[in-house]
Amino acid sequence: MTALSLPRPPLSGASYSAVEFDTVAAQVVMLEQRLLPARIEYRRYEDAAAVAEAITAMVVRGAPAIGIAAAYGLVLEALHERGDGGAFAARMETASVRLGRARPTAVNLAWAIARMGRCAARVADSAPDARAAAMLAEAEAIHREDVEACRRMGELGAARVPQGATILTHCNAGALATGGYGTALGVIRAAHAMGKQIRVLADETRPYLQGARLTSWELNQDGIEVEVITDSMAAFFFARGEIDFCVVGSDRIARNGDVANKIGTYNVAVLAREHGVPFTVAAPFSTVDLACPDGASIPIEERGRDEVARIGDTVLVADGIGCRHPAFDVTPARLVDEIYTERGMIRPAKGELPTQLASAGGGE
Ligand code: MRU
Repeated sequence: MTALSLPRPPLSGASYSAVEFDTVAAQVVMLEQRLLPARIEYRRYEDAAAVAEAITAMVVRGAPAIGIAAAYGLVLEALHERGDGGAFAARMETASVRLGRARPTAVNLAWAIARMGRCAARVADSAPDARAAAMLAEAEAIHREDVEACRRMGELGAARVPQGATILTHCNAGALATGGYGTALGVIRAAHAMGKQIRVLADETRPYLQGARLTSWELNQDGIEVEVITDSMAAFFFARGEIDFCVVGSDRIARNGDVANKIGTYNVAVLAREHGVPFTVAAPFSTVDLACPDGASIPIEERGRDEVARIGDTVLVADGIGCRHPAFDVTPARLVDEIYTERGMIRPAKGELPTQLASAGGGE
């Protein structure tokens, strides 16, 4: 592994990070996730437009991680702006719009940009260095709070994992998708740390293969038993009674408890209900969008044809033939047995709503 080189310990709290800020070089540092697991390389970014491009291109991905990357992108712009409060506000606005368009489904992106915008409004009339310092402190707070939230939801979810369970997860909701530690993988890590004898089946997660490339890599490094299956094998293992518990992350949770997550998650939830297996979700409260009434209102990203039609240079679908690529799907609340957040747990399938968590308070 190419060591992460920073002037201070990474906020992820781990030997690798999806995203960090180099305070000396004034650069956003990202692990190039498109190369994993074959190569471990970090990329450095010097302005918000480059950060936005990296988010769209999936150098960094995962709902909380792209929010943190955008927050750090705004810090870069704050550092570069030496003009008056008006110039600062205009620059923040332009960069926020650019970053906000990078990916549409994960609400954590818009949430982080809005929080940075409130900070920018508070400090716009301060001296340039003070403004930039305040923006950096806010971005770091978002990052630290995310790691802390992952640990709290991890403990909550881990308590629900049966001893000896085989756990199915989909996509990558690990340290690579968050500030550190992970949401769904936070639950798995915490269960392992509690001494529960667990093993994991990781859906490979076509077409982007986050499960095959990222989830198995993360769990293997922690010494947690993991096997990768193709997405189409999940039904086979459910039918054989080999899956005891499902946990996934989320990109947006609507007010009625509907959950958007990586394409294929809904399949897992339907199978879990058919086979009487708990289907659970771990996500920070920043993933809850109380302004969004239901799953049908969640914008679903459609990505390019070639991510389905090719793997690297290998052509799977002949040129000229169309492919569809919705990157996320929505699991209706009635199929979601439990959602773990840093503010507590709700049971959407039993009619409990995310609004209950809003009143639990805590954080911005
Ligand atoms: O397209 P991606 O890789 O950004 O999709 C990621 C997911 O769907 C994750 O499950 C979700 O963002 C939760 S990450 C803690």
